Amino acid sequence: MTPKQAEILTAQMLIPFSDEPKSEAKYIVAHLAECEPSQIILSNKEISKAQIEQIVLKRRQGIPLQYILGRWWFYKSEFLVGEGVLVPRQDTETLVEAALELIRDIKAPRVCDLCSGSGCIAISIAGDRQDATVTAVEKYPAAYSYLEQNIKLNNASNVTPKLYDVLNEPFGKYNLIVCNPPYIPRGDEKELSKEVLNEPHTALFGGEDGLYFYREISKNWKQSLVSGGILAFEVGINEAAAVAEILKTNGFTNIGFKNDLIGIQRVVFGTANNV
Ligand SMILES: C[S@@+](CC[C@H](N)C(=O)[O-])C[C@H]1O[C@@H](n2cnc3c(N)ncnc32)[C@H](O)[C@@H]1O
Repeated sequence: MTPKQAEILTAQMLIPFSDEPKSEAKYIVAHLAECEPSQIILSNKEISKAQIEQIVLKRRQGIPLQYILGRWWFYKSEFLVGEGVLVPRQDTETLVEAALELIRDIKAPRVCDLCSGSGCIAISIAGDRQDATVTAVEKYPAAYSYLEQNIKLNNASNVTPKLYDVLNEPFGKYNLIVCNPPYIPRGDEKELSKEVLNEPHTALFGGEDGLYFYREISKNWKQSLVSGGILAFEVGINEAAAVAEILKTNGFTNIGFKNDLIGIQRVVFGTANNV
């Protein structure tokens, strides 16, 4: 069948398994036709029902669409994704935007991205600020491999990956440390979708109350900021006030917040007054 016919059939087959069958069908058929979603109408690649059934089966099993495509889009770039790495979320663009504002007046800023995963935050900051030097820290080899691949894919020569546990000794001196840590409280597991649970649990859960990494990182990584340097976190829904308190308890001042596109407090940051 033609890609256009395949798109209609795929959307119908996805109805029981997807909240957005039409939009997903577009991405899936573009993937099968090896074209961009906007080019489906122009493609004459033959697509079989068996190819569609194979993908719909994966969606039925809760495999994230982005893992099936093998790539996803974040901020201004494309990122390779698959099993073992968190899919970049649109919410996280708020942290990239906050970071860019926070380093706007600093020439050749030194930035560190802790818990880097696919590298979407580090690579996006580095892409907009070619004069920045960015270190991207990730502990788990499967995610780290995507980080390395995405640095190459995006020609981000100003990003250096580091396979390292952020709970170990901190290192370096930075103007800005950004971090989107695992922050889902353990008890919330039963509320998560099959798709989310197919992403690495080491990327999702931040201890009993979700705040474990905020506490550890605020306490330990403060010494890796220059005086006046800033630590900026992405936070989960309803975590902003608690994370602001954690920053204050650890001596950070000028606590600030940034909302995401739907008005949720998504970023919390504070300044280190190290001497
Ligand atoms: C919520 S994900 C964020 C990934 C990416 N920064 C993003 O925003 O899409 C958290 C990441 O932290 C990594 N991680 C978990 N524990 C870690 C640790 N102790 N040290 C370094 N990275 C860790 C996970 O593997 C995962 O990639």
